Amino acid sequence: MDKLKVLHFPDPRLRKIAQPVENVDQDIKDIIEKMFFTMYEEKGIGLAATQVNIHKRIIVIDVSENKDEKIFLINPEILSLSEDKDSMEEGCLSVPGFFETVERPKKIRVSSLGLDGETKEFEASGLLSTCIQHEIDHLNGKLFVDHISALKRNRIEKKIVKLKKEGSLASRKDTPNYKSAV
Ligand code: NI
Repeated sequence: MDKLKVLHFPDPRLRKIAQPVENVDQDIKDIIEKMFFTMYEEKGIGLAATQVNIHKRIIVIDVSENKDEKIFLINPEILSLSEDKDSMEEGCLSVPGFFETVERPKKIRVSSLGLDGETKEFEASGLLSTCIQHEIDHLNGKLFVDHISALKRNRIEKKIVKLKKEGSLASRKDTPNYKSAV
């Protein structure tokens, strides 16, 4: 299986709003498989279709230590958010090598379509909650760097553009703690 190409900030395609999946057919199942493959290859814990230039509302996640707990979400919706907040250091496969602390609601209730096309609801907290919120942001054209100051964001943008020009952006992916790259 070939790895899908991950877009990097500030690529304008990362700003597109993903469209809902209408039918959970074989095409969608194939996209999910390729996304899991790409996410594991990139040592990420989450990947949104937007990041691989597929503008459909699909997310794959695996926050387990042994990388054996696949979670995929089709047309995910956040039904409710807790008032309690959690601050976590976030990274992103589209912003390789940069980590910043982002505050988000601690617990969420989410709905998503299963492979059978049925809507399922569940609750998430901790890293999974942060990860789902980060990935849904991607589907809405938003990146974790939009949650930090413009000053920091601009600094990261300049560095990425420079590293890309030098051809050394990709090598950064191997260094950071990949735990929070989503
Ligand atoms: Ni991300």
